[in-house]
Amino acid sequence: MTAPDGQKMWGGRFERAPDASFYEFERSWSFDRRMLPQELALNRAWARAIAAAGILTDEEAQRIVAALDEIEARAKSDPAWLDASQAEDVHHFAESALIEKLGPLGAKLHTGRSRNEMVATEFRMYVKDATRELRSAVALLARAIAVQTKTNLGIPMPGTTHMQHAQPLLLSHWLLAHGEAFQRDAERFAASAASADACPLGSGALAGCAFPLDRKALARDLGFSRITANSLDAVSDRDFALEMLFALATLAMHLSRLAEDMVLFATPEFGFIELPDEYSTGSSLMPQKKNPDAWELIRGKTGRIYGALFALFTTCKGLPSSYQRDLQEDKEPLFAAHDQALAMLKIAAATLAATKFREARLREASQDPALVATEVADYLAAQGVPFREAHEIVGKVLRAAEQEGKSIREMPLDRLAAFSPAFGRDLSTVLTLESALARRGVAGGTAPGAVRAALEDFNARLAKLEEKP
Ligand code: ARG
Repeated sequence: MTAPDGQKMWGGRFERAPDASFYEFERSWSFDRRMLPQELALNRAWARAIAAAGILTDEEAQRIVAALDEIEARAKSDPAWLDASQAEDVHHFAESALIEKLGPLGAKLHTGRSRNEMVATEFRMYVKDATRELRSAVALLARAIAVQTKTNLGIPMPGTTHMQHAQPLLLSHWLLAHGEAFQRDAERFAASAASADACPLGSGALAGCAFPLDRKALARDLGFSRITANSLDAVSDRDFALEMLFALATLAMHLSRLAEDMVLFATPEFGFIELPDEYSTGSSLMPQKKNPDAWELIRGKTGRIYGALFALFTTCKGLPSSYQRDLQEDKEPLFAAHDQALAMLKIAAATLAATKFREARLREASQDPALVATEVADYLAAQGVPFREAHEIVGKVLRAAEQEGKSIREMPLDRLAAFSPAFGRDLSTVLTLESALARRGVAGGTAPGAVRAALEDFNARLAKLEEKP
């Protein structure tokens, strides 16, 4: 069996057709067909550019552009046409379809160019589009966070370090902490788009185009803000894709951390949230179960996205200068990571929006007196006791309280006086949850006023992101 015949892009110097199994192995149409919109846009711009360079007449360029429009329309309305194609890759597909329509005129379009620069250009265009889409999806999640923050503004929660009770927080402060991470992700996607925003066209196979091409005009026509500086670099470089994958991996890491908090909060031990039925599943065996599958799968899928980043790093490692066929391996991991991340973002946003935080349970958990131990040390420090000493004193008080089976709030003042003469009646005022929260009014702190201001600032940035992803 041999590979399908039809218009080949490189058949001339070959006596025999490729082996069918090898053809299946080397072709990329099954996945790079995803870049057909970019391919057709590139072809239209190329037709105009080589007309300007005197290779086509304006009338020929117009006929090519019109035929490409028809190809685009058919591709949209007739997916079976794409499914049935035996094309080697997306470039081959578009060229064959054009030649089928226009004959020899269609065969003129490839003048002065190489698939090496085309694939680099289209992949950059893809990254620019995909990162915009990802920014919109990040905005969806950030919006869900902003809404929950506003709804739950005054609810306290026990804050932890090392998973041990540390100091009280506002739940809204915890929500915005995750929100800030996602805002940074949106910025990272913008940065990877900016990195992709240089047009390689005119680089040829590796050495540059031999026709008088206006590269800058061509780049502008395709929505690029600049051209690549070196033809050899332009056909080898996949940094922009690595940057997008790094941004995706970081986003996935942030999603997995939110997921882990939610999984813990859904346990009976925490009991901080009620899982939404719509985004949970049950057990086939244990009738009582409601599982946090949405969050578990988000956490779980993070691994694939890291895998995609490392797959491309590994592909690029040690490649000699110029285009190498290995680079065809760049697309599948990025496409898959893009799809997974979008799905993860959408499910995270919807699940978070549908989650009910249990105020009563959060308030109860925040009453743990251990959470105000720092307040007692601060109190002593405010009376002039050196902080290191104050820390030591409070530690001893806590140990004594523990031995007596009391909380620090229950220690009578005369008992406390034995530890330090600095303890006074007003101590009880700092031992409250409200006081511990209110004292942290510094910008970025967890006091109610500071969190309200932070939410306002968060919303202002989010509105910009939603407006212009
Ligand atoms: N399918 C190829 C890829 O994705 C396109 C470039 C092929 N270039 C070549 N000289 N065979 O990288």
